[in-house]
Amino acid sequence: MNEEHRLRRASLLRAMNPGVLVVPAAPVTLRNNDVEHEYRQDSDFYYLTGFEEPDSVLVLSSSAACQAVVFVRPRDPEREAWDGVRLGVERAGEVLGVDAAYPFGELAERLPALLSDHDRLYYRLGVRRTMDDTLLCAIDGIRARARAGARWPTQIIDPSVLVHEMRVIKSPGELAAMGRAVDATCRAHLAAMRAARPGMWEYELEAVLTAEFLRSGCRRSAYAPIVASGSNATVLHYHANSRRMGQDELVLMDAGCECSYYAADVTRTFPVGGRFTSAQRAAYDVVLAAQLAAIEAVRPGTTLEAIHDVARKVLAEGMITLGLLTGPVDRVLEDKSYMRYFRHRTSHWLGMDVHDVGAYQVGGLPRELSEGMVLTVEPGLYVPEDSDVPEALRGIGVRIEDDVLVKCEGGRVLTSGVPKSPDAIEAACR
Ligand code: GLY
Ligand code: MN
Ligand code: MN
Repeated sequence: MNEEHRLRRASLLRAMNPGVLVVPAAPVTLRNNDVEHEYRQDSDFYYLTGFEEPDSVLVLSSSAACQAVVFVRPRDPEREAWDGVRLGVERAGEVLGVDAAYPFGELAERLPALLSDHDRLYYRLGVRRTMDDTLLCAIDGIRARARAGARWPTQIIDPSVLVHEMRVIKSPGELAAMGRAVDATCRAHLAAMRAARPGMWEYELEAVLTAEFLRSGCRRSAYAPIVASGSNATVLHYHANSRRMGQDELVLMDAGCECSYYAADVTRTFPVGGRFTSAQRAAYDVVLAAQLAAIEAVRPGTTLEAIHDVARKVLAEGMITLGLLTGPVDRVLEDKSYMRYFRHRTSHWLGMDVHDVGAYQVGGLPRELSEGMVLTVEPGLYVPEDSDVPEALRGIGVRIEDDVLVKCEGGRVLTSGVPKSPDAIEAACR
């Protein structure tokens, strides 16, 4: 993808009004005492460089002969003996395809020269305060030389708008990485469905999922897996995964891995014992109908809002049929009483981040879909255990989530490798 990173930098430079851009790598964060959290590169930085090391900064300049500069960690045999090999300054230019590379320690000293004579600095203020300070000090340093004719950036512009718009439309290379994440995720869900038994703990299913991610070469989950059995499935962001699963219960699994920095995001809900009860199946059928209708609505020119409208209408009708609400459906939608059982949105963008970047609104209106976007379609129905509704439905939580690519002819479901119809699910669980 090295060439692709170079092309991205070139198109970003074209999209910027003349100016200079600074994008830092993600910081290392401490987990406890001197132990670090697993390091993951900042998505924007990786998108523009393909470089995974911390203590790195990318500087892109529209005017200099030297357009792309990186600051990286220098080689250090003592540190490398502990932490592993570093790319180093000497090789960074060639490997990353940039014009110049310097040690990270020289950033403060070299920034004034890199920022001078630019009116615009593209930099996301407020996220990394130490880096903010380094940049503001550099600007202050140039300003101090104003009488000698120095020019400093007088505008600081958030570059994420430009970079994130680029990230919304996925290239063939990005779709290939997503395809690997999706395939591994589908295998993991299928393995977990096959492994599930009454009496197992939720974390045992989590172990099956993450083992399959690793076995597939996808080393990270894209988010903390949710394995929610019984009424835990009605808690939208349940993460404890610590309950023992019982006979005649449903389990909701929302899990996806990350592959080459691209995420999959899949939810399936299935009977722990391999057979839906009639109430569970009735609830499941409602969510499935909503999900299929919403997927059918995916096409260029429509909006996530319109897709959400389709899903919530089918869900609201189903809630009435199930006896959770009293109709008519128009009133249930109007007074939002359906939100007692479906309180989240139907879709979000998917890409390097599970809740991917990119504007949801343009000019105050819902943004239209275009070819190459990837979104999730994930309606759900969650009946709190203490609701005053038919007893057989209490504590049931169902969500069905697929990843969908917008093609000119409509939505292409990327995650069709995991069983979804009740019959296919029961067959997989058997
Ligand atoms: N797994 C997070 C979500 O579905 O949005
Ligand atoms: Mn999702
Ligand atoms: Mn999800």
